[in-house]
Amino acid sequence: MSTVLITGANRGLGLEFTAQYTNDGWQVIASCRSPDKATDLKKLVAENPTIDIVQMDVSDHASVDTCVAALGGRSIDVLINNAGIASDDFPRQKLGGFDFENWENILRTNTLGPMKVSEALLPNIKAGTQKKIAVVSSTVGSLTDMNTYPVYPYATSKAALNKGMRMMAEQLHDDGISVLCLCPGHAKTDMGMKAEGASVEVADAVQGMRNEIANLTMATSGSFRRYNSESITW
Ligand SMILES: NC(=O)c1ccc[n+]([C@@H]2O[C@H](COP(=O)([O-])OP(=O)(O)OC[C@H]3O[C@@H](n4cnc5c(N)ncnc54)[C@H](OP(=O)(O)O)[C@@H]3O)[C@@H](O)[C@H]2O)c1
Repeated sequence: MSTVLITGANRGLGLEFTAQYTNDGWQVIASCRSPDKATDLKKLVAENPTIDIVQMDVSDHASVDTCVAALGGRSIDVLINNAGIASDDFPRQKLGGFDFENWENILRTNTLGPMKVSEALLPNIKAGTQKKIAVVSSTVGSLTDMNTYPVYPYATSKAALNKGMRMMAEQLHDDGISVLCLCPGHAKTDMGMKAEGASVEVADAVQGMRNEIANLTMATSGSFRRYNSESITW
């Protein structure tokens, strides 16, 4: 049985990843920052007791280290760095009125979070069979796409994440670990509905990203793909 660890698994895309992989017979380690409040995830676990819930706040490095220590040497085939945040008050995030504290928080969660989680779980991924790291990034992080959600903190957090993951793909090549940056499209989650125009069903976004992860090879490691199989320019 293959094992996947998903961050931010309590709602949105993370919860749907958890449900779909479980339905396909995977062992899912569903991480979330507040298991006590993870009502929907606990409901899913009640129906599927094979799912393991673990506590992990990706912006808190001590929390990541504690979670990884508790996993011991457990092997992980696929790591999905999904947890992320956007600016709730994005009209304020304009040149001339930047909220740098909010920006730092977004960078800490969206950029440093996946870098820290991936680094901390490397021994577990090396012990797995598939050896894959995926991140749920965004087209918004593309340097050539200047129109999609042009909000400085979120866009820069995903652009920096892409660069970090691209570098990790190069560095981990000799270890046989493949790395993939993904965009779910504008999906109908809590985050997606905060901006106008969310059109992609959550189930379709996740099924598409799962297909991309399944098709990932060492030859395609370090690529940036949309849920509908399009390649995204960096
Ligand atoms: N929806 C879209 O249209 C869209 C488009 C492009 C990219 N994305 C990316 O897709 C990913 C998932 O987003 P979503 O649409 O599913 O958003 P969502 O519905 O708002 O869910 C975000 C998830 O991330 C978790 N999270 C946030 N900060 C965390 C932290 N510090 N530690 C652990 N978990 C944390 C949340 O947990 P809590 O419940 O504890 O807050 C929640 O489970 C994000 O990386 C987002 O940037 C989404």
